[in-house]
This record gives sequence, structure tokens and C-alpha cells, in this order.
Amino acid sequence: MPDACKLAAGNWKMNGTRADLDEARALANAFPEPGCGVLLCPPATLIAAMAEAVAGSAVMVGGQDCHAATAGAHTGDISAQMLADAGARHVILGHSERRADHGETSADVAAKARAAHQAGLVAIICVGETEAERDAGQTLDVVLGQLGASLPEGATAANTVIAYEPVWAIGTGRTPTLDQIAEVHDALRAAVPDTAISLLYGGSVKPANATEIFAIANVDGALVGGASLKAVDFGAIITALATA
Ligand code: 13P
Repeated sequence: MPDACKLAAGNWKMNGTRADLDEARALANAFPEPGCGVLLCPPATLIAAMAEAVAGSAVMVGGQDCHAATAGAHTGDISAQMLADAGARHVILGHSERRADHGETSADVAAKARAAHQAGLVAIICVGETEAERDAGQTLDVVLGQLGASLPEGATAANTVIAYEPVWAIGTGRTPTLDQIAEVHDALRAAVPDTAISLLYGGSVKPANATEIFAIANVDGALVGGASLKAVDFGAIITALATA
């Protein structure tokens, strides 16, 4: 059984202008051979410029969302083909902020993932419970339910990554216990159609907690928000993953 690939993925969310491309350049220079996959997902406005800035390096660039259609009358939206054309290799789909702020359902996420696959992008599909769902003992039901409904047919390790991001751990500085992360990742590993699909943990990953999180079985990397904005912080997380 092949092992899942390690991946350190940064989600810049709605942060960054061209001045911040220096952070991407610094990472590219610091990690010529990182020992794990390194991905930055800046706002759509920066994808092409970042892809150019890190061209020829180990740093990959991705988007944060795409539309399910190839083209057409969808003002403000971006297709998977457009992301690929701009230099993206991956796209984050179904992030809890998209599910909450834009009413995205798991069926929407599956449709977007199909579009991503068709465009040759790796879909990073996000799942995660709210604090109320965890308190009600529904964590595994919620996470596995989202996974089942968000994964398109034909999902393999070559075209899909799963990110477990508890909603209550995002941007809060709070994280689940190591046992709680392990419980969800073990359940995800048993549920994915291809056992080599990489499983990322996301939610307040920092240099200070990365090593203990990466030591958990079935955690193959991280989807990092705030700590991915600065090369020095994200670099420490990359080093922790590469040496895990
Ligand atoms: P933080 O690392 O800022 O908690 O964000 C996590 C996240 O939402 C990554 O997609």
C-alpha cells in the first residue's frame, strides 16, 4: 500500500497583495528540496503573479475556490480551467468559511471537485464539525457525512486531498486534543476510496504545535491559515512536517 504524500498547504484566505509575494519567494529560496509538498493558496488576484514568482522552485500554487461550470454568465466567479491557466495545481474546496458565508453544500463541493479534476487540478476537500456538533457527540457523523457527499466519483490520491478542519479551531488558537485529531483521521482513512489520499489537519496549526500534530498516525500534513502568511512561520511548519 503506497503511503500518502506529505503536504504543507497554506491558505492565505482574503489576505495579501503583490508586496507579500516576497514571502512566497523566501519560502522558495529556503526550501529548494523541502522533503514534503509545499503549497500556497493566495487570493485569486495573486495566483498568476505568485506562480511566476516561484517558477522553477518546489513551491506550488493553488486557488481557494472554483465554480462548477467551465465558463459562462457567472459574474465574479472563476472556473477551474482559469485557475489552472493562471498556474494553479490545486484548489481548496468546501472550506467552512465558504460553507458558512456562501451557503455551499456538500453537493456543491462535489460538483466543484468534478470541475477541478476535469481541469487537472488536485481538489483539497475540507470537512469539519462545529463546536455544537462536537459537544453533541456528532463529530464523526458530521465529518463522514460531509466526506461522503463532497467526494466526487473517481477521487484518487492523484487528484484529491482531504482536510479535516474543526470549525471551532479555525483562527481561534484552540485545537482538538491529539486523541481527538487521531480519532477523526483514523475514521477518514477508513472511509476514503483510495488509502493513499493525503489527510491534512487544519485549525490553529502553528510552529509550536506542528511537531506533535504531525506525529499523529494518519495525519499527512496541514492546511494552515494565519501561520502561512509569513515565510518564517510556515517554514517552521514545513520543517516539522519534513522531519516527522
Ligand atoms: P488558521 O490556521 O488561521 O486557524 O486557519 C485554518 C484554516 O482555515 C486553513 O484553511
